Amino acid sequence: MSKAPTRCMLANLIVWLFVLLPTPALAQGGLQGPGPNQGPTSLTVFETADFSGSGICAACHGNLKDGQGNDVSIDTLSSPPNRLIFGPFVQPLQRPMQPDSGFAPAPGGHVTDSALCGSCHTLYTPSVWADGTPVGFEFPEQTTYLEWAHSSFARSCQDCHLPAAAGAVVISNRPRRLTSRSPFGQHHFVGGNSFMVGLLKTNARALGVTAEPAHFDGTISRTLSQLQQKTALLTVAAMRIGDRLEVTVGVENLAGHKLPSGLPSRRSWLHVSVTDGQGVVVFESGRPRADGSIEGNDADDIDPSTWEPHYDIDLAGATGSMDITVELLYQTVSYPFIVDLAQDETDLVNQFMVMYDPAENAPLRLGVEHASAP
Ligand code: HEC
Ligand code: HEC
Ligand code: HEC
Repeated sequence: MSKAPTRCMLANLIVWLFVLLPTPALAQGGLQGPGPNQGPTSLTVFETADFSGSGICAACHGNLKDGQGNDVSIDTLSSPPNRLIFGPFVQPLQRPMQPDSGFAPAPGGHVTDSALCGSCHTLYTPSVWADGTPVGFEFPEQTTYLEWAHSSFARSCQDCHLPAAAGAVVISNRPRRLTSRSPFGQHHFVGGNSFMVGLLKTNARALGVTAEPAHFDGTISRTLSQLQQKTALLTVAAMRIGDRLEVTVGVENLAGHKLPSGLPSRRSWLHVSVTDGQGVVVFESGRPRADGSIEGNDADDIDPSTWEPHYDIDLAGATGSMDITVELLYQTVSYPFIVDLAQDETDLVNQFMVMYDPAENAPLRLGVEHASAP
């Protein structure tokens, strides 16, 4: 009998990340730093490290740099009142923050280093065979930091994801004599996930989320504008040569890593349609359907054991000028992923499906271009 790795660990993980409820199963999941000097940091870090009094801030600002390599790791050893909390500015005032919060502000250039983000955005998860025995290696499930590190993108993660505020900012209202400083990185952390933010907004009460609807709306609109304006550049050119139509589509990735990146439930594809001079659709591929699936996407959305065939379309009957429309579409929670997830009927998955089912999962459009061929 052949053994196939299952994705149930992954499914658990995803629900956790979405719903932000730790589950015991996750203790096995690994949040692992990217560098050779750094030991694996498991998700148990979030259960043992003391973030009390800081909310989520210490998850980034409490990260340590070992002083030898480039590696940044989550501090699990120290705790308030003497815990260091790092920021980009030199000589931060100790009072009133240290006595009031138990966190001692310290200068740390590593806060503006992409490796800080790499301490979490490099995620290895253990994979298991169908019978639950470990496959024996960890699967590089999310590698946004490594994608960036091995690319030619010159800008840092911070540069794109913490956009600098216009002008200088006074970062605290105490003491009153504080002067303003710049640059100030706005903590937007906008990615591509407007869908889940919408789901959190709609189910805020059930999930115990305290953010106001306006906060969700702000993040959703920043996400949509990043996706529509800063994520990809689409070009299309077309030429008809006898009965053959040649369409050249270019997609330039403007994100600082792969597109899509992060959670493997993301997908991005081209929706291409061609109409002839009579307005008859002579070719269409990649049309999204209302349930989030893609029409005719045999292998992914219909039957995973099949392959997508190669199509040759005869244009002999098509008359007049050809109009070509190309859309680049993007979905954070893909249809095959949700079908797979729903099979794992754990409590968390079931809770998630109750929220997912009524939500609109139409893909977002990263770009649209037209061309015509006489
Ligand atoms: C996901 C990581 C992350 C989290 C969580 C986070 N920060 Fe930051 N913070 C940063 C980074 C990165 C910078 C440096 C930004 C820059 O200058 O590029 C920064 C900078 C700052 C600064 C200095 C001003 C500036 O922009 O340089 C302050 C103050 C600050 N953060 C406060 C907080 C507080 C308070 C919280 C919790 C409510 C918090 N941060 C949570 C990553 C984070
Ligand atoms: C302590 C762990 C941790 C650190 C450090 C961290 N992140 Fe994250 N980040 C997360 C988690 C968990 C999520 C939510 C899950 C997801 O979307 O993958 C997230 C989500 C994000 C998203 C939104 C993804 C979306 O779906 O829209 C962005 C953008 C992001 N992080 C950027 C950064 C940047 C830039 C840094 C460094 C300044 C950073 N993160 C540091 C854990 C971390
Ligand atoms: C040149 C700008 C740019 C840089 C540099 C950049 N990003 Fe992004 N990032 C984007 C854009 C645009 C998106 C939305 C499209 C996508 O998901 O790829 C995004 C999406 C993300 C997401 C969401 C992925 C998901 O799960 O949907 C995360 C997390 C993230 N970035 C983290 C990082 C980290 C960590 C770094 C540095 C190692 C980084 N980014 C560097 C522009 C950038």
